[in-house]
Amino acid sequence: MTADKPYLTGHYTPVADEVTATELTVEGTLPPELTGRLLRNGHNPKPGVTPTHWFKGSGMVHGIRLREGRAEWYRNRWVHTPALDGAPYMTEKGPDFTASPAGTHIIEHAGRLLALCEANFPFELTPELETVGAYDFDGKLRGMMTAHPKEDPVTGELHFFGSSPFPPFLTYHVADAKGRIVHSAEVPGATASLKHDFAITRRHVVFVEGNVTFDPTEHSGIPYGWSDAQPARIGVMPRGAGGERQVRWFSIEPGNMLHVSNAYEDGQGRIVLEGPTVDREGFRLSWNWWIGAPDRGTEPNTRSYTRRWVIDLATGTVDEQIIDDLAVEFPTLNENYLGAENRYQYAVSFPDEKGFGGYGVVKYDRTTGARRIHQVGDARLPSEAVFVPAAGATGEDDGYLLTVVSDLKQNASQLLVIDASGLDRIATVHLPRRVTAGIHGSWVPDTDLNGPTA
Ligand SMILES: [Fe+2]
Repeated sequence: MTADKPYLTGHYTPVADEVTATELTVEGTLPPELTGRLLRNGHNPKPGVTPTHWFKGSGMVHGIRLREGRAEWYRNRWVHTPALDGAPYMTEKGPDFTASPAGTHIIEHAGRLLALCEANFPFELTPELETVGAYDFDGKLRGMMTAHPKEDPVTGELHFFGSSPFPPFLTYHVADAKGRIVHSAEVPGATASLKHDFAITRRHVVFVEGNVTFDPTEHSGIPYGWSDAQPARIGVMPRGAGGERQVRWFSIEPGNMLHVSNAYEDGQGRIVLEGPTVDREGFRLSWNWWIGAPDRGTEPNTRSYTRRWVIDLATGTVDEQIIDDLAVEFPTLNENYLGAENRYQYAVSFPDEKGFGGYGVVKYDRTTGARRIHQVGDARLPSEAVFVPAAGATGEDDGYLLTVVSDLKQNASQLLVIDASGLDRIATVHLPRRVTAGIHGSWVPDTDLNGPTA
């Protein structure tokens, strides 16, 4: 029953159709260098469809086209995969990697827009959000691909992996800046632990295995669950050919990390890794929200607090601590600092399990320890805040945060453009409809897309 499913109600209520609107109303001044597309993906099942798990809902991409101070269009399109028409993932021949919800993330690499879901092939979209089809890197990708690939800001390479419940449990891939897979290898020692995200530093690849692992008794349609018997570990391997043979696994405290904030080598050569993480109770309350079970948290990320791990490769030790008391998710940063030490970190805050805190866009200064929150108002939920550098930026936070707000009171949505330095709103784009609270997204400047763009 829909009313029982939190992922089909409130901010998460799906929209029923695909629309296009042009020449949107703008308040304030859109910086002219914001010429490109903000693309957001999330689960939006078709009318009448009630998925058994939030993450099984069909993906819908919402796009907002900005050009030299104008908001030219908004459009939303389902990712038209076989799963949208009901095709099953499991077949007599094994998994059908094209039967994808494709509702987790959308990225650009080598001029291609790819809608992602971690158990499947990517799906390529046109710049106008029409579905081209499943993309398997010219046949070189033969299994699932994470929804959180990492584009190295120095080399332009795309690093990613596939995490499978069956051997080989973990396969690591690198595509070059032109989108060709140039390296694929199994990572030894990995287990069936669910790996949603990972990290790259300048010199290493970092995997996190938490306590959530393959569980064939879980009947929500996504066969994973918490296991105390599953060892929680971090795997560190050198980048480059043959690095897999040197992977080392380090024990950590129990937990489940969904998203990496960032990772880097510090001045002493230690690896610093941060990300919002839940404990066992947080996972139970969150999972019950994701499947619509009665005993659930009020938010999809209950008890999600940021942890920091410092991994000393010389001594083989890991120092671990929770570094913030605000419940957050969707960490973002200036991606020019991905894999290097970042001063500024951004995230979305949620009310905690006792109702404290609220929805907002958070900015952390990791040097001073300061934390500031851009409040967006009552009954308004901001999406993952995507950082876009300003033209000619000289500082790490010299740029903009783009977030789409779901406003329940007005049954409407706006794109907010926030100055990332002062955290003030500088422009608001009024969208023609409420945008379903989704998962992840990207800013894609025109300069990253191939050919002329309308
Ligand atoms: Fe994610």
